[in-house]
Amino acid sequence: SPSDPDLVERARAAKEKLGDKVFVLGHHYQRDEVIQFADVTGDSFKLARDAAARPEAEYIVFCGVHFMAESADILTSDDQKVVLPDLAAGCSMADMATAEQVAECWDVLTEAGVAEQVVPVSYMNSSADIKAFTGKHGGTICTSSNAKRALDWAFEQGEKVLFLPDQHLGRNTAVRDMGMSLDDCVVYNPHKPNGGLTADELRAAKMILWRGHCSVHGRFSLDSVDDVRARIPGVNVLVHPECKHEVVAAADYVGSTEYIIKTLEAAPAGSKWAIGTELNLVRRLANRFAPEGKEIVFLDKTVCFCSTMNRIDLPHLVWALESLAEGNLVNRIEVDPETEAFAKLALERMLALP
Ligand code: 13P
Ligand code: SF4
Repeated sequence: SPSDPDLVERARAAKEKLGDKVFVLGHHYQRDEVIQFADVTGDSFKLARDAAARPEAEYIVFCGVHFMAESADILTSDDQKVVLPDLAAGCSMADMATAEQVAECWDVLTEAGVAEQVVPVSYMNSSADIKAFTGKHGGTICTSSNAKRALDWAFEQGEKVLFLPDQHLGRNTAVRDMGMSLDDCVVYNPHKPNGGLTADELRAAKMILWRGHCSVHGRFSLDSVDDVRARIPGVNVLVHPECKHEVVAAADYVGSTEYIIKTLEAAPAGSKWAIGTELNLVRRLANRFAPEGKEIVFLDKTVCFCSTMNRIDLPHLVWALESLAEGNLVNRIEVDPETEAFAKLALERMLALP
C-alpha cells in the first residue's frame, strides 16, 4: 500500500534533524514504506556487520525483529543505543528455543555421554540467551549465508553438532552442502522427555537438530514447486534454506535473502523465477526486475507475510524517530552484560569464519 504522505514527511524531517546521530538498518523482509528510510538494507548477516561499522551513530534504529536488534546491541559499543520501533516484533522461530529448554537439552546430552563431543551451532534467529549458551559451550552463530562454513568449522572442533533452533536450515546444510545423509540427523523435541531420543540415537547422530522452524518458510510445500513448474514452463525455483528439506531438494537454487537478490540481479532478461521467501521481498524484487524483462512470482499463493516483521510499519518508525529527535530514548533493546559477553564470543566466532 502507498505510504501516507504526511507520515513520510514526518519520518524524513525527524531523520534529518537527527542527522549522523541515527543509523537506520532495514532487513529485506521489511515493508516498502519502512525500507525507503533505511540507510542500509541486508540479510541478517550483512546487518550484523553493518551495525558494528557505525561507531559514530548514537542510535541504531533496527527495522527487523527482536533477535536482530539484540545482536546489534551485542556487536556495538555500550554507549550506542539500539532501538526496535515495535517491541512486539519478535520471531516465532527464536521463541521455539528458550534458555531453560536448551539447558535441559545439554543435561540430556551429558547424561547420554555425548556432550563433550558436541559443538553447538546456533542460527542468528535465536535469543541472546541462546547465543550466550552457544558461546559458553565453544560454539558459533551462523546465518543462512554462512551455515556451511559454520558447520565446517564446528566439525573441526568436535564430532557432533547441536544445531538450533531451525531444524530445516540445519538439515538442508548438512545434507545438501556437506554430503551427510538424512540418517545422520536426529530431531530433538524440547517438549518430550529426553527430547524424544534414546541415548543410542544421540550417540549415532552427527547432527542433533532442534525441533524449531520458521512459520513463514516452513509453509512452502512440494506441491507448490510442482504447481509452479506446471504453470510456468522453464521457471527457475529459488528458495530460502529455512524451507523444508523436500522443498529445497526440489528447488533449482537455494540461498539466503542476500543470495536470492544477487542471483536475480545476475539473471538474464527473459528468465522466469519462482521465489520461496518472505512476500515483502518477493514483491519488491518482482517490481524491481519487471522492467528488465525478468518474470518473478511468489512460490506459493497461500503463504503470507512474516507477521512480526510487518509489525514495524511507518507509524511505528515515525514514532521512534520523532521520539529520538526530541531526546526521548524509546524501545531500547539492551542485553545484560553477562549474556552479552558470552553471546559476543559466539558472534565473533561467526564473524571470524573463513
Ligand atoms: P536471512 O536474513 O539470513 O536470509 O534470514 C531470513 C530470516 O528469516 C530472517 O528472519
Ligand atoms: Fe522469524 Fe521466519 Fe519471520 Fe524470519 S521470517 S523473523 S525466521 S518467523
